Amino acid sequence: MHDVTIIPGDGIGPGISKTIIDILDAAGAPIRWHEHMGGVTAMETVGEPLPQATLESIEGTRIALKGPLTTPIGSGFRSVNVALRKHFDLFANVRPARTMLPGGRYEGVDLVIVRENTEGLYAGIEHFIGMENDPRAVAESVMLITRFGSRRIVRFAFEYALSHGREKVTLVHKANILKYTQGLFLEVGREIAAEYEGRVVFDDKIVDNTAMQLVLDPYQFDVIVTENMFGDILSDQVAGLVGGLGFAPGANLGERAAIFEAVHGSAPDIAGKGIANPTSLLLAACLMLEHLDELDVAARVRSALREVLDAGESLTADLGGSASTDEFGSAIIARVESAVPA
Ligand code: NAI
Repeated sequence: MHDVTIIPGDGIGPGISKTIIDILDAAGAPIRWHEHMGGVTAMETVGEPLPQATLESIEGTRIALKGPLTTPIGSGFRSVNVALRKHFDLFANVRPARTMLPGGRYEGVDLVIVRENTEGLYAGIEHFIGMENDPRAVAESVMLITRFGSRRIVRFAFEYALSHGREKVTLVHKANILKYTQGLFLEVGREIAAEYEGRVVFDDKIVDNTAMQLVLDPYQFDVIVTENMFGDILSDQVAGLVGGLGFAPGANLGERAAIFEAVHGSAPDIAGKGIANPTSLLLAACLMLEHLDELDVAARVRSALREVLDAGESLTADLGGSASTDEFGSAIIARVESAVPA
């Protein structure tokens, strides 16, 4: 049995989380769920967005599946997603993108973005400089790149490639312009790549060219490793290549914990209507099962999902159907026991 912390989240979160638990239970996943709160639900219930009990649970289980959490804009509490990444030093954000729905923009896309999750401009080191009567005349932000952080994310990408049967790692950067920060990232990348020579192919690409190449010919990519902001942007771009955020799962990984999540948000516009698509969170759950080495269960869930998508029945509204979250989930459950791993 694996102990897993589940944070259902808010908005559409509780509905899709329940569907995922039902599917994994039906698939025979050996998981003992520990349900905890975060975000708006926690704020309203216990007065803090990230309760100690939630942190302690993840410290114990070291694995969490997290539904979307609403982050108030402008004021209010800070993002719980960011707080969790910081607290557990989840330095690697892994976002696989694979075509699932036939008839989309591209068939057969299968690539992975490995994004550094703690440094770069998103480290949030910024300030204003006042001039004359304007206290905010200039805004400055620091792009923090460390040798340590670059080493561990590039090494992670190579190890990921090896353990997932992938052949190539492309390091994406802007070292032609940002010669110090991006230059250091590229320099470290090349050093680490040399250790994997003969086992994993390595190349590097400038980020703007990468954005274009992804649209022209996504098949040339396998694993992309990049710094925080480029990874944020490119991972949404590749989600677009395979049908949008509804098919995008994410894993936040570190030495102390692994947190798996849907990439989309809490969708307040459809919350409570029972029509949300649970696919993204289900794919995140599959990543979690694979992380736990429950490969057979993960493969059966993926097959059942693929069968439902291929059949084109029981699809939710965002996929052009009219099924509810429950109906979509039930269609997967009906297939999951007998599904043959692809
Ligand atoms: P969103 O991803 O929640 O929604 C964008 C659009 O996609 C909406 O029209 C929504 O109805 C639709 N959508 C999203 N997920 C769907 C699903 N599973 N099935 C069907 N349709 C779906 O993005 P938005 O509106 O910008 O953010 C809403 C809240 O979510 C914000 O508070 C934001 O901070 C938070 N958020 C949380 C994330 C997380 O917890 N990992 C990630 C992104 C946003």
